[in-house]
Amino acid sequence: MFKTAAALAWIALGVVVSAQQVAFDVGASIRPVGTVSLPGNVWTRYLADITSHDAFVALRHPRFPAHQVRVKKSEFCDPTVNVYTGYLDVDEGAKHLFFYFFESRRNPDSDDVMMWINGGPGCSSSMGLLMELGPCRIDMKNASSNGTTWNPYSWNAETNILFLDQPVGVGFSYAEFGETIETTEDAAKNVHAFLTIFFETFSQSKGRPLHLAGESYAGRYLPAFASYVYDQNQVAIEEGRDTLNLTSVLIGNGIVDISMTWRGRYEVECTTASLEVPFQKISTCVRQKTALPRCEKAIRESCVDIFDAINCRAAVSFCEAEVSAYYESSGRNFYDVNKPCLGDLCYLEVGAIKSYLDDPSVRALLGVESPGNFSSCSSDVGRGFNVHLDKYSVPSQFYIAGLLERGVRTLIYSGTHDWQCSWPATRLWLDKLEWTGAVLYKSQTFRDWTVDGHKAGEVRTAGPLTFATVRGAGHMVPFDKPAEAQAMVSRWLAQEDLQPTEVPRMSYT
Ligand SMILES: *[C@@H]1O[C@H](CO)[C@@H](O)[C@H](O)[C@H]1NC(C)=O
Ligand SMILES: *[C@@H]1O[C@H](CO)[C@@H](O)[C@H](O)[C@H]1NC(C)=O
Ligand SMILES: *[C@@H]1O[C@H](CO)[C@@H](O)[C@H](O)[C@H]1NC(C)=O
Ligand SMILES: *[C@@H]1O[C@H](CO)[C@@H](O)[C@H](O)[C@H]1NC(C)=O
Repeated sequence: MFKTAAALAWIALGVVVSAQQVAFDVGASIRPVGTVSLPGNVWTRYLADITSHDAFVALRHPRFPAHQVRVKKSEFCDPTVNVYTGYLDVDEGAKHLFFYFFESRRNPDSDDVMMWINGGPGCSSSMGLLMELGPCRIDMKNASSNGTTWNPYSWNAETNILFLDQPVGVGFSYAEFGETIETTEDAAKNVHAFLTIFFETFSQSKGRPLHLAGESYAGRYLPAFASYVYDQNQVAIEEGRDTLNLTSVLIGNGIVDISMTWRGRYEVECTTASLEVPFQKISTCVRQKTALPRCEKAIRESCVDIFDAINCRAAVSFCEAEVSAYYESSGRNFYDVNKPCLGDLCYLEVGAIKSYLDDPSVRALLGVESPGNFSSCSSDVGRGFNVHLDKYSVPSQFYIAGLLERGVRTLIYSGTHDWQCSWPATRLWLDKLEWTGAVLYKSQTFRDWTVDGHKAGEVRTAGPLTFATVRGAGHMVPFDKPAEAQAMVSRWLAQEDLQPTEVPRMSYT
């Protein structure tokens, strides 16, 4: 089943180019050892043309002369669909971004395309793949001979899906000369180049609705990435080029407006927001509540209204010490108040995923060329972002408002047992968000949404914005509530209300 590690040859792709076509040139491939000419022209290139399991096929695009995509087929994870893995080589091959692509289980030739990104900053999207919403899950029970089990609740049920390890330095993505990316706005450029090359190269994807999905720090990443895609689309229109059909953004337990972080945690610990009976000591709740106004004032003045790096860092330290520290010393799971913290990042799956992805036979199956072992979350990347205070320096909610004003559908969903990026914090920042639909949004009440007749959570919708809770799920919603998460995504992709029996919703304009 597993391929031997040996021969991952570098192969450059020669393409027949006719006069009026934009050329995908063979280019100076980074370390070419041979050339393969595929039949047909570039505009009818199908991923299905890529049949090699042992060697990458390299694809270049004239508009991104410093970039190239290398892709191969893989027997990884989901035997029911075509699976591809590869690298986007950035900056003349100095940086390499690793991706996994799974075709849809329904209709790969017409279903939408989704890209999933995990957070951190610095954590690998293979965590989402192998623990949450991917076509297979890490095998924790030694039930299979291949290290994974097939996931019937995978989000590729109805959409093609890409998992991208980004920025460089994360997961299997790496740099030849140690370069790093240390801000979300810089990372956006590589993601946009990746998506453009991908969609323009594989013509079956062209014009297909694109959904950007992710969780946690993706609440900072995705609003900026989607906004960059949107703005670049306007440039493309002016220049008569194809656009990316940016259709929606999905953010699970995201960090967006940071000013509500600590009030949200207080509510989780000291009210019935998460559990029926608050679990924190009353005396601790009183201390936290007493500190909150000062915490929030400092955050507002030094991080939000005007960003001042030194004062903002001091404000964050104050809030962490006076509000977060009690929970952090409790031994509870940061991502699920109802669970103990066991293993790396509080989940035994995390260590198992690392062992699995470090296995030489799995690396070979994926075509991994990254030097060094896999790490779930890169501390170097995390440190780089922290140096720039990336989490605080640009208000992510301003990007969200910008996208909503332009009609980009946005699904914000939250597992209610998360402490880290809690659902009350999300409820509070959405109430405070300034955009044209704000009045309508606030006039809506939460309605229950159900899956198979059981309540899954509550939902509130206004125009392009939907906020849904998933009751009883932690930070990683599809991990805890796979059926509910899959139903939510299915309804979202079909542009249905999350609770389909509800009366038609009002227009917000
Ligand atoms: C791995 O094994 C499990 C259980 O035996 C099976 O369901 C799954 O399809 C296998 N995965 C692959 C990629 O062959
Ligand atoms: C997993 O199962 C195989 C047989 O299917 C066995 O040889 C192996 O020792 C088991 N590993 C663990 C960690 O239990
Ligand atoms: C984007 O996708 C939608 C839904 O399939 C489609 O109606 C629309 O024409 C597409 N837009 C572009 C620019 O391809
Ligand atoms: C990578 O992991 C293997 C197996 O656990 C270990 O032997 C090796 O020392 C590790 N390499 C690095 C560079 O950490």
